[in-house]
Amino acid sequence: MGSSSLFSSLARRLEGKVALITGGASGIGECTAKFFSQHGAKVMIADIQDDLGHLVCKYIGPGSASYIHFDVTDENQIRNAIDTTVANYGKLDIMFNNAGIIDKPKPRILDNDLSDFEQVLKVNVTGTFLGIKHAARVMIPARQGSIISTCSISSITAGLASHAYTSSKHAILGLTKNTAVELGQFGIRVNCISPYGVVTPMCRKFGTIEVEVLREHLHSVANLKGLILEAEDIAKAALYLSTDDSRYLSGHNLVVDGGFSIVNPSFAMFKYPDS
Ligand SMILES: NC(=O)c1ccc[n+]([C@@H]2O[C@H](COP(=O)([O-])OP(=O)(O)OC[C@H]3O[C@@H](n4cnc5c(N)ncnc54)[C@H](O)[C@@H]3O)[C@@H](O)[C@H]2O)c1
Repeated sequence: MGSSSLFSSLARRLEGKVALITGGASGIGECTAKFFSQHGAKVMIADIQDDLGHLVCKYIGPGSASYIHFDVTDENQIRNAIDTTVANYGKLDIMFNNAGIIDKPKPRILDNDLSDFEQVLKVNVTGTFLGIKHAARVMIPARQGSIISTCSISSITAGLASHAYTSSKHAILGLTKNTAVELGQFGIRVNCISPYGVVTPMCRKFGTIEVEVLREHLHSVANLKGLILEAEDIAKAALYLSTDDSRYLSGHNLVVDGGFSIVNPSFAMFKYPDS
């Protein structure tokens, strides 16, 4: 293989692949949709924000991306989104269950409403369950596929987000592991990605904090200094989990947090006095 063909195969890692991305109209999903299409994938963007979803498709260009309105909590809509993807593009190689919501944390459990708690679990956990279920429906006969879900560092740490959000992300990790065990026999890999804080439209939930102020805050409490986590870093993690580079990874939680979740701030033995 000549160097130019080697470069092009490295540059377009998803040539011939078909991906469905939930929550693809905004933030991490939008960035991943654009990134996957740059790598040659056909992308189906599924979301409830129709105008934004169509804009992302327009940006990517006709023929390479389509938008479908769907609510992750509605099984008929998710079944339809998967079937439409297969009808349009012939198959489904990558399912990215990325849609999610966060609620404003109320520190005291006594102040937490049942309806808020249930809504977060419905979108984050039930939505991911339905996404994995219906992706598996078409991937099992094909005996291949990569299913990825966006989890969070709240899947392995506590006290960073609301009770509902933390519960939902722990549940997605459990679901990832359980379905990886079931679907391994069909050659289907199931993994999740756990990002540290990324400034996306989701952050509006935390009030009117300026984007730059939020970035600064995230950087000041991060473990890895000199860098700011961007949506593209998560898109790159999703790319890795979609290709053969990760072909023997399943049931894995790919934590993209610069070491944040392994720090115990009570023990500051490595802190340099002038840092
Ligand atoms: N931004 C962060 O700091 C961060 C950190 C860790 C994990 N995450 C996770 O990343 C994922 C993407 O979040 P983001 O930061 O890009 O936020 P975002 O708000 O920009 O994107 C979320 C998308 O999900 C869609 N969505 C919400 N409810 C839906 C539903 N019922 N059906 C279909 N689509 C729905 C929204 O319309 C939106 O387009 C979420 O699962 C979130 O929990 C985000």
